[in-house]
Amino acid sequence: MENKLVRIAIDGPAAAGKSTIAKIIAKKLGYTYMDTGAMYRCVTWYCMNKGINCQDQKACEAVVNDIKIDLKPDNTVLCNGTDVTRAIRTPDVNANVSYIAAMKGIRLVLSGLQKEFAKTHSVVMDGRDIGTYVIPDAEVKIFMIASVECRAQRRYKENMEKNIPCTIEDIREDVKKRDYIDSHRDFAPLKKADDAIELDTSPLTIPQVVDAMMKIINQKLGA
Ligand code: DC
Repeated sequence: MENKLVRIAIDGPAAAGKSTIAKIIAKKLGYTYMDTGAMYRCVTWYCMNKGINCQDQKACEAVVNDIKIDLKPDNTVLCNGTDVTRAIRTPDVNANVSYIAAMKGIRLVLSGLQKEFAKTHSVVMDGRDIGTYVIPDAEVKIFMIASVECRAQRRYKENMEKNIPCTIEDIREDVKKRDYIDSHRDFAPLKKADDAIELDTSPLTIPQVVDAMMKIINQKLGA
């Protein structure tokens, strides 16, 4: 029997809960979860660690091919063998990652890897341009949104649980700034694909979002 690949694209603004939900959905379906944001974060961490200015496009693009990113099945992230799982979630990386993600030379390399992976795996991939650019023919496309306040509160709670120091005001500003840069860049900006289903998670708990997503997925796949 033919084993057809299923690609589920989840896009949306910063801190909308995409990765939390994508991980649960991938586990339920037995597909691979790919956190594309972690890849842009790795490049950001690498540049910062090397003392490269994250707004210097030429300098950042010059090193992208020196970086080997490993996304492990337990969601550990390795950058050239170093465990950066925690280091890529700091406020400093948050503040710089949108500049890196706006660089076409970096996007071409990372999205190339993502496109290759999706050719051979059933995958739940989350990001900003998955449904529009990375997997435009994905079987299921979902665009997750939530109010800025709701996203800031959720991210604040998550950071507190992980002992990442921050203030709610800083998170609110970071989320707004990243959304602006991510949706205004020239190449593959944050945008809802025409055929994506929009899901507003503001009033929903995690189990409710998972239920809503599973309904959409089952409908789309005719299960
Ligand atoms: O999902 P995240 O917050 O970990 O993503 C970090 C940054 O990377 C985000 O500000 C935008 C960028 N990004 C992107 O441009 N395209 C993707 N497919 C994933 C993330």
